[in-house]
Amino acid sequence: MSVKGETGKGETGGLQEPASFNLEVARKIAANTRALVIGPYQAGSGKKAGAYAPRRELDDRFAEAVSLARALNLAIIATMRINLHDIRPASYLGTGKMAELAALIEAEEITLVIMDCALSPVQQRNLEKALNAKVIDRTGLILEIFGQRARTREGVLQVELAHLAYQKSRLVRSWTHLERQRGGFGFLGGPGETQIETDRRLIQDRMSRIERDLEAVKRTRALHRAARREVPYPIVALVGYTNAGKSTLFNALTQSDVVAADQLFATLDPTMRQMRLPHGGRVILSDTVGFISELPTGLISAFRATLEEVLNADIILHVRDIASPDSAMQEADVEAVLAELGLTRAEGPLRLEVLNKIDLLTPERREALLQTGGPDGPIAVSALDGQGCPQLLERIEAMLAADYALCHLELKPDDGANLTWLYRNGEVLARSNDDDGMVRLEVRMSKEAEARFNARMAQG
Ligand code: GTP
Repeated sequence: MSVKGETGKGETGGLQEPASFNLEVARKIAANTRALVIGPYQAGSGKKAGAYAPRRELDDRFAEAVSLARALNLAIIATMRINLHDIRPASYLGTGKMAELAALIEAEEITLVIMDCALSPVQQRNLEKALNAKVIDRTGLILEIFGQRARTREGVLQVELAHLAYQKSRLVRSWTHLERQRGGFGFLGGPGETQIETDRRLIQDRMSRIERDLEAVKRTRALHRAARREVPYPIVALVGYTNAGKSTLFNALTQSDVVAADQLFATLDPTMRQMRLPHGGRVILSDTVGFISELPTGLISAFRATLEEVLNADIILHVRDIASPDSAMQEADVEAVLAELGLTRAEGPLRLEVLNKIDLLTPERREALLQTGGPDGPIAVSALDGQGCPQLLERIEAMLAADYALCHLELKPDDGANLTWLYRNGEVLARSNDDDGMVRLEVRMSKEAEARFNARMAQG
């Protein structure tokens, strides 16, 4: 596929303007785009339906695909499940089905077709020709969502990087296809080769530049993080499946106004807020991007930056939509992605499962959930009406208490150095300058900080 120079409607993810990753434009275009969402699945065999080996029921999978498309703010004109007997290598769909779709697309003036599967570049191109509309597959769809939702510089760069990697892999595969078509062996050269090589080099150059930019952004972030670490509030990170209610819970707990939209991926970049616990301690609550089932592997690194705060968290709150029929599968999906990030239950930060949306359950089920759990078990809440939130805060405090020490200390009035150290490395909960001249402090700090302070005092 020669991308450069082609500007037709059928062009997908055009390379011709690599710098044109304009979010505002993307949002406007989306709102005016008439779209058709297709779930082309092989009936009776979830495993064979496309390259993503779906484990969930096809109904749920299709519902998710439609939700993802909705998250893009597209004008969704029609949605359609197609039961495939087999997948055509050249066009994914058979000619009869394509003709049927082409008629619908023309009649409804649809300009975008979303196929919930993985398409090869050749399949994509042939479909675009046959349907006379732009066609994107699942990876393309998720990339669009990331592109729209990325807010920070790091998020934007990561998404663009994933986008370019996607394009590059498609050029490579397309090139292989051209070779086969010609019956050549690659070393013969021929039409297309120079162009594709140029395109690949252009993509590679841009990727290298973005990677350098990303390093710079990350360094700055690391500095910020180090600075924040000096204000040593524990970090509590919310993770969970898309639409589980993380932003709503974040708001409920911090009474802030972070976007809580009824959409998937309302948040891409971590959002941090300070929060008070019942007994006065403070934590930083971090909202993160939602997870998605069967996330194409090429997109995982785009998550990594957005989830960096999670790697540094003291506690991970795994927020689950317990009212969703798909809840168990969603939990497994989140755990799988966390494991890919190197966060296992055994090794990572402390974990707490938060069962959200209990207001949607029957009273019996809700009661059962509220009663069970125990001191280490999940906490049932409704982020919407607030039930369970006080218990959640108590639990967070209890979990942190195990790692943090409350110290009562005495310093000489002229001991400014140690006083400064304590403010930097601990949380000073109370301080009094007493009549006897001593400064008395109540300080909460990590056990590790306490050990360092004791060593410091011992040295004199
Ligand atoms: P992403 O940012 O897409 O990952 O989603 P999220 O996990 O942050 O979900 P969000 O807070 O945006 O909530 C998604 C939808 O669920 C919204 O429509 C919320 O109003 C709704 N919701 C969240 N919590 C509850 C709850 O406790 N009960 C009910 N009934 N709805 C809830």
